[in-house]
Amino acid sequence: MTNLKDIAFRMTGSGKGILAADESTPTCTNRFNSIGVDSTPENRNEYRDLLITANGMEKYIGGVIMFDETIRQSTTCENKIPFVEYLTKKGVVPGIKVDKGAKNLAGFENEKVTEGLDGLRERLNEYYELGARFAKWRAVIRIGDNTPSLGCYEANAHALARYAALCQESGLVPIVEPEVLMNGTHTIDKCYDVTDKALKITFEQLIKQNVSLEGMVLKPNMVISALDCAEKASVEKVADMTLKCLKANVPSEVTGIAFLSGGQSSDDATKHLNAMNAQDDNLPWNLTFSYGRALQHDALNSWGGKNRQEAQKRFLQRAKNNSLACSGVFSN
Ligand code: G3H
Repeated sequence: MTNLKDIAFRMTGSGKGILAADESTPTCTNRFNSIGVDSTPENRNEYRDLLITANGMEKYIGGVIMFDETIRQSTTCENKIPFVEYLTKKGVVPGIKVDKGAKNLAGFENEKVTEGLDGLRERLNEYYELGARFAKWRAVIRIGDNTPSLGCYEANAHALARYAALCQESGLVPIVEPEVLMNGTHTIDKCYDVTDKALKITFEQLIKQNVSLEGMVLKPNMVISALDCAEKASVEKVADMTLKCLKANVPSEVTGIAFLSGGQSSDDATKHLNAMNAQDDNLPWNLTFSYGRALQHDALNSWGGKNRQEAQKRFLQRAKNNSLACSGVFSN
């Protein structure tokens, strides 16, 4: 497993994090609609190209998660080099989202289970041949009046563990993402309880399925108040409670923890990560970012389908801020 550990380190170590650019076509279409750009394969290629070829992004970004369409696309401005080859040459690890999305969990109201295990071994082998060296699978846990149920935690944790074992068999580092959503009105204490249970059950399943912990990356939510909670927890409280929850549940063998941003503002996502790394510089794992929206929001809006240079500048600034946050030395 030395090789997988090494890849996981390259994705999350040395002050680097991960760019999540794996929006599915419908999600990408929603994002493009918000800026008045047609969601064609060419426009999606152009947008991903501006992120991937931004000059110097490799100083801050150790891995890029792509969608199936993107991993088969190429640069638009540098002699059409396949993205996988281009990233690998820059020392950035190419990755691929492999789940098939969160579907209704039969027998439970308002709960989801992520699907995509059927045929996964074959798909992973194809992605490995294409040059991917890590994968991502996202489970979704929603806090409601009567949710999550034990059935939902367990079904998602079991699928995550089966996926992770298959990835490692194929030579890919699995990003294991049990996301507790920020949607709702719940307090930070409720988020703590649910995240604590989700992580506990996920690691129980990972261990039962013989997943190598050093050859994986955990992608959790932060412990945080819900988007519509009446009281927004301070940066210090988010940092304290998130670290407490991770220390209670994540074995020290895990190489990297890379947070999702989950709907936090770009600034908050950086400040929270920074506060955690500033508070404790002796954590057993690399503590970093795997942000989608918090890295791309400014870039997407300033791009607007044409302003490539400005978009790259904004993306690089966010990437740099989060890289500094990995060492706890970011300041406004
Ligand atoms: O699976 C989730 C994405 O890769 C991260 O997206 O940072 O916008 O929550 P986000």
